[in-house]
Amino acid sequence: MSGRLAGRSALVAGAGSRSEELGNGRATAILFAREGARVLCADQSLDRAQATVDLISREGGVARAAQADVSRSEDCARLAREAEETYGALRIAHYNVGIEARSPLDRLTDEEWTRVLDVNLTGAMQFARAVAPRLVAAGGGALTFVSTIAALRTTPLTAYAASKAGLLGLVVSLAGQLAPGRVRVNAIAPGLIYSAMVAGGMNPETRERRRLAAPITDEGTPWDVGWAAVFLASDEARWITGQTLVVDGGFTIATRDYAL
Ligand SMILES: NC(=O)c1ccc[n+]([C@@H]2O[C@H](COP(=O)([O-])OP(=O)(O)OC[C@H]3O[C@@H](n4cnc5c(N)ncnc54)[C@H](O)[C@@H]3O)[C@@H](O)[C@H]2O)c1
Repeated sequence: MSGRLAGRSALVAGAGSRSEELGNGRATAILFAREGARVLCADQSLDRAQATVDLISREGGVARAAQADVSRSEDCARLAREAEETYGALRIAHYNVGIEARSPLDRLTDEEWTRVLDVNLTGAMQFARAVAPRLVAAGGGALTFVSTIAALRTTPLTAYAASKAGLLGLVVSLAGQLAPGRVRVNAIAPGLIYSAMVAGGMNPETRERRRLAAPITDEGTPWDVGWAAVFLASDEARWITGQTLVVDGGFTIATRDYAL
């Protein structure tokens, strides 16, 4: 590794994985640490966060686990404080938390809508509100949110799509507001990644279909999302803000019969 994030204090929300499969948040926390950052790994499940920390520690990285529910404003404030107290001035804040919901409009309940918006969008705003002053006080930094290509193309995942599209508006608004404080704000929109979030609901056929759906037919992995996060957090992205980096093997630029 090249030490692109050497010595920086980083906070990753949603740093655990819901299963034994690798998650996007876990891969990102691991890569941040490999690049030299000291990482506070936050998750609503302390065990999941600790499992990520154990992986980082085993390879000589520096990380600590924290429990937090990001849909609670006070938890976000506590996390931001803890990251700074543990590892010094906060330079990198990464919001990977996302819960899915699959209901089309005619089956969508108020409860599902509220739950998904609370975690995916309100949580993101609360996270941003907690970390932004600390990133500014540090002299600048990077704030990144994990959205999805479901925010860019049509799917029946009503609440999920709306919450993740909301993130893109949040990014554009915050990028302008925080630019004077030298804080860059961006989103990553992953495509059909084989990650912990989706692996449980897949069989070999569906997995293969997803692999073949994009022009680049190597399966997307959480490492692909993690490397995008490393880039956006690094000084190499110093002039990039308010953007959405699509990480999807070309899925969104192709029609189904793109090769014809
Ligand atoms: N896998 C894909 O194909 C795909 C595609 C596009 C976007 N994404 C996005 O990637 C992210 C998730 O990927 P993953 O593989 O890391 O999923 P994951 O579910 O394994 O990890 C997310 C972690 O967030 C935690 N979490 C959930 N609610 C929380 C809350 N309220 N407070 C704190 N932590 C909470 C969970 O405990 C979990 O450990 C999501 O934002 C998702 O929308 C995934």
